[in-house]
Amino acid sequence: MKIAAGKIADDNILSEVISGLSKKTKHLPSKLFYDKKGSKLFDRICKLDEYYLTRTEIKIMQDNIEEMGALLGEGTLLIELGSGSSIKIRLLLDHIPGLAGYIPVDISEQHLIESAEILNKDYPEINIYPLVADYTKMFEIPKIEKKYDHIAVYFPGSTIGNFTRNQAKEFLRRMAEAIGANGGLIIGVDLKKDISILESAYNDREGVTADFNLNILAHLNNELETNFTLSNFEHIAFYNEEFSRIEMHLVSKIDQKIILGKKEISFEKGEHIITEYSYKYAIKEFAELVSDYFYVKKVWKDGNDLFSVQYLRVK
Ligand code: AVI
Repeated sequence: MKIAAGKIADDNILSEVISGLSKKTKHLPSKLFYDKKGSKLFDRICKLDEYYLTRTEIKIMQDNIEEMGALLGEGTLLIELGSGSSIKIRLLLDHIPGLAGYIPVDISEQHLIESAEILNKDYPEINIYPLVADYTKMFEIPKIEKKYDHIAVYFPGSTIGNFTRNQAKEFLRRMAEAIGANGGLIIGVDLKKDISILESAYNDREGVTADFNLNILAHLNNELETNFTLSNFEHIAFYNEEFSRIEMHLVSKIDQKIILGKKEISFEKGEHIITEYSYKYAIKEFAELVSDYFYVKKVWKDGNDLFSVQYLRVK
């Protein structure tokens, strides 16, 4: 197993953060949630009672995996965005006939290698080509030994929901280009539903989501030497019906100033930093969103219509 390093332009983080915190409505890029501690907190979120997304997606995969594997078919080169330690990828690896190779893509080299090594032990017959890259940007697909017939990109977890509509369209454009003819995208998409179910999923009783949200500030303190005091901010999350999205914010509890590089950023008491949007879609709306580049081949849902896994084919 050889780790291929894609290009990661993280020297831009400081300028991205300065720009986000200098705006009238302050915001931070949600990719900054995922340092080591943030990734662990996210793993805990996935197991929470209130966070229905992960277990529902797994159940949909388990219930329909034979059909998924058959639809993807012989000679698939499987690319996973956000490399999986999860049981979801194992289901696909177990059920795609004549898999040509598997390329897990992740921005965190350590996480990528650890999970690829475990999979390599359990699936010695599958050629695994881990790729360190930021999949929200352009990346090059590594050359693989076996001939493949088509590419299938696996993008689980409803991470597409964390993109604005324009970002999602741009991502879909790039994916369709990278996947090319005969290929497709297997994507997890969270669905619109009762607001109380949505809001509980992002306001769990144990406060794990609150810690996850606040950890973005700890990450900045470590990475950019800012001096945020976490207890001076409060987690809030609510469903914005107009835009069909959960919004996570951090609210300043006091008037305060933070040092950021050579700049000083002021916060008034009650001022918000937007840290994440998580869009929720109706099946029809999602089909419309992808329609410039993909058509929907198949939608699998759970019995309560909470979540969907969709197979999109390149147009
Ligand atoms: C990764 N992503 C799909 C999660 C979501 O539900 O939007 C991130 C998350 N934020 C709070 N809890 C989970």
